[in-house]
Amino acid sequence: MSNAQTEQLKKFVFSSKRTVHGESLEEKLEIIIPELLQASYSFYTWPSAPVLAWFVWENRQEFYGKKVLELGSGTALPGIVAAKCGAQVTLTESSTLPKSLAHTKRSCQVNNLAVDKHVRVIGLSWGLFSNNLDSLGPVDYILGSDCFFEPATFEDILVTISYLLDTNPNAKFFCTYQERSSDWSIEHPLLKWDLECIVHNINNLGSSVGLNIHDLIGGHSVHLLEISRKS
Ligand SMILES: C[S@@+](CC[C@H](N)C(=O)[O-])C[C@H]1O[C@@H](n2cnc3c(N)ncnc32)[C@H](O)[C@@H]1O
Repeated sequence: MSNAQTEQLKKFVFSSKRTVHGESLEEKLEIIIPELLQASYSFYTWPSAPVLAWFVWENRQEFYGKKVLELGSGTALPGIVAAKCGAQVTLTESSTLPKSLAHTKRSCQVNNLAVDKHVRVIGLSWGLFSNNLDSLGPVDYILGSDCFFEPATFEDILVTISYLLDTNPNAKFFCTYQERSSDWSIEHPLLKWDLECIVHNINNLGSSVGLNIHDLIGGHSVHLLEISRKS
């Protein structure tokens, strides 16, 4: 449940410039994210989220009309950008965290996305084979920002990803990973679940409008990964 007294609204602006027939075209999208700073995990936009959201924004033509599922959405910046760019989006949060789910819905509401009309918001806990997982329907893209935030969760999320890639063989999982310890690695669970990973370069995200993506993530080290079934 959001608390009006402690809620802060954070603005994220996405823009791009391109030249068409000699004319400079600028496109812009503003997203407002409500945050509860005293709370944990899902009520705050982690540094990984703007990176993944910029990736979606810059590839918006690819996402247009596609079925997009976001895992561990929290404040849901990447999923909301996808929805604003014309994707059919399902945002998810742990089924055991009703306040987090309510906050994901609040993020939608603040951005004029009606739940059950413009976006779906459902409970989906990683590693559990629930009815919600079964009833998702086809998925083209899976998004996950900072879902590998502690090693205890690595296996659970990859079990869910493995299942989703089995049921949607052409789907791709794009996720952002914040390096928190050099001792942590997803390499072993990826191998175990027969998955492979490509690292995408993030340095050019936003470059058409002079953005330095590293200014958005402070001193953190964030990687953009594409995880798929091993070929
Ligand atoms: C570090 S936060 C990232 C939130 C958001 N994606 C972002 O980047 O701002 C991790 C998110 O995963 C959710 N989460 C944690 N464990 C989960 C689980 N077992 N199943 C589903 N979601 C989970 C948390 O509630 C939280 O929203």
